Amino acid sequence: MFDRIAPRYDLMNAVMTFGQHRAMRRAAARLAQPPRDGLALDLATGTGDFAAALRAVEPTCRVVGVDFALEMLQRGREKYPVFDFLAGDLLRLPLPDHAFDCAVNGFVLRNVADVRAAFAEMYRVLKPGGRAVSLEITTPRAPVWQNIFGVYFDRIVPRLGGWLSGKPEAYRYLPQSVREFLAPAQVVELLRAVGFRDVFLRYLMLGTMVVYVGVK
Ligand SMILES: C[S@@+](CC[C@H](N)C(=O)[O-])C[C@H]1O[C@@H](n2cnc3c(N)ncnc32)[C@H](O)[C@@H]1O
Repeated sequence: MFDRIAPRYDLMNAVMTFGQHRAMRRAAARLAQPPRDGLALDLATGTGDFAAALRAVEPTCRVVGVDFALEMLQRGREKYPVFDFLAGDLLRLPLPDHAFDCAVNGFVLRNVADVRAAFAEMYRVLKPGGRAVSLEITTPRAPVWQNIFGVYFDRIVPRLGGWLSGKPEAYRYLPQSVREFLAPAQVVELLRAVGFRDVFLRYLMLGTMVVYVGVK
């Protein structure tokens, strides 16, 4: 699916978030606290924009991006030749233990068959003290805003996505996957279950985005 929408993925992100997509990745990247001259990992990097946010937060850090959709990765490589992009599955990372100062992922948890296994892999590749950060779309909790957002996300976004990308099924899947995903408290529990400490979550973008943070 992501290979099919790769040519219009960035455009659709910009339109759908009213241009806020970079600011929200940057806010999440700050929570990852990439250190000076550190090594950062962006899982499910897609076209590399979360990797770029890490680099914007800490220009001296080296960033590795991993994704299994080769068309998405190719676009990342063209946009950000300075990063190391690797083809791979985040459930079985082709990377050594205890190697990274921070590991992030954006907008992927909903698509993963086993979220606990994904967190366990993040834990494995982080150095002790390293930070894991996951950014996801969520349903806002305030009732009236939830309804307004629901109309936008469930009805307008699929039409917009179909029109801009030519792949309406991908943008029908998007709100459906958010609706069917775990509640934020369950995600927090999974992070704790694989060993992360000091776990917390923070809402962004009027409660439509959530960032999960844990420390190894
Ligand atoms: C919605 S995109 C997010 C891309 C990027 N993180 C961003 O912030 O724009 C989801 C990405 O997750 C990737 N993905 C999904 N499951 C994956 C897995 N098991 N291993 C590696 N990549 C995966 C897809 O190929 C896609 O590029």
